[in-house]
Amino acid sequence: MKILRILSYGDPRLLRKSEEVREVDQHMVDLVRDMFDTLYAVPGIGIAAPQVGCNLRFFVFDMNRREEPGHRSPVILINPVITAQEGMVTEEEGCLSFPGIFVPVERASGIEVKGVDMEGKSIVLEGEGLFARLIQHEMDHLEGMLLSERMTKWDRMRLRGEIRKIERTGRKGHA
Ligand code: NI
Repeated sequence: MKILRILSYGDPRLLRKSEEVREVDQHMVDLVRDMFDTLYAVPGIGIAAPQVGCNLRFFVFDMNRREEPGHRSPVILINPVITAQEGMVTEEEGCLSFPGIFVPVERASGIEVKGVDMEGKSIVLEGEGLFARLIQHEMDHLEGMLLSERMTKWDRMRLRGEIRKIERTGRKGHA
């Protein structure tokens, strides 16, 4: 089991647009396994590849994140594309790359996303609420778009000190 370091705001790798996955090689298989180990060790429900320093278009998540392994439902989505969306809703959102920060962000309330799994099989997922928010948030990471750009100008001003501290030290409240 390997817990990866999650890059925090200030690392330039978070700002790059990630590239399509062309083949799932052993390096990626190992990385995905480590990303799931990491996911279950941190207070979050999703990790995008750029957050662990890999600028490829995939992310892992578990909407049913529980402590007991029997209740887990890990999902990996490779080369995801949002194929439909509807409605708009504003809810609090956080990001492992901005530890301790939660801000209201406006997102589509319902989403359909397509991608492939590790075997190259096509996946279509749809949902609302937290699922829709998670998918849009992780898709942002693949574009190099961060929470700091999604928050309101007012929140950015209000949290300027804390964001600068994350940028400087790589952490705020916790690791
Ligand atoms: Ni994030």
